[in-house]
Amino acid sequence: MFITFEGIEGCGKTTQLEMLRDHLEWKGRQCVVVREPGGTELGERIRNILLVMEDEAEGIEPWAELFLYSASRAQLVKNIIRPALEEEKVVLCDRFTDSTITYQGHGRGLDIDAIRTINSYSTFGITPDVTILLDCPVETGLKRAWLRIENSEGSPEDRFERETLKFHVRVRNGYLELAQKEPRRIRIVDGTREISVIHEEICDIIDKVI
Ligand SMILES: Nc1ncnc2c1ncn2[C@@H]1O[C@H](COP(=O)(O)OP(=O)(O)OP(=O)(O)O)[C@@H](O)[C@H]1O
Ligand SMILES: [Mg+2]
Repeated sequence: MFITFEGIEGCGKTTQLEMLRDHLEWKGRQCVVVREPGGTELGERIRNILLVMEDEAEGIEPWAELFLYSASRAQLVKNIIRPALEEEKVVLCDRFTDSTITYQGHGRGLDIDAIRTINSYSTFGITPDVTILLDCPVETGLKRAWLRIENSEGSPEDRFERETLKFHVRVRNGYLELAQKEPRRIRIVDGTREISVIHEEICDIIDKVI
């Protein structure tokens, strides 16, 4: 069982993923939690490169960015995700291929068909069984994310939080478009509600699928 969490910054992915992990473990399921980019030695190094490049004057070319994310993903799928799925564990992944389509495609404007092709290689063809799309207005998500940054001594952990509002609106709309195309896999969950209410809905969705 492969579950991914998607949505704009601050929509509640990490919060809800951790709560679902607790729920599933309570039900006796073995879970593996991973994040993108990262989750392996190579992936964490790539994550650091992406963070450092944010502060460099040179910036990062969108195609270069796409390949860095893809390299991290290939390593993560091969070393962690695929073996865990083979052992029939539940894999919970904080962002996956849909993020690449929405951020690099809808957000940065790279060719979406090309991204899909690259995704199919970087994942070795593995696709999520269910994707929880936490949807909320961009202003709500960014406000939450900024609050979190202020509370953690101000070093932004995510490079995209500094992007313009318009960029995030394109990303949000991109997600909603993907969900329309793949309604069976991608479940839209209203992320504006209380944390516990959202959690209950996600548990319902996953319990039915498992
Ligand atoms: N439903 C909610 N209502 C109010 N606050 C929330 C809700 N869900 C999460 N938060 C808070 O908003 C902040 C962002 O949540 P979280 O880190 O889970 O989002 P995220 O989607 O993982 O963000 P990012 O993409 O930046 O990793 C946290 O401080 C969290 O406690
Ligand atoms: Mg998060």
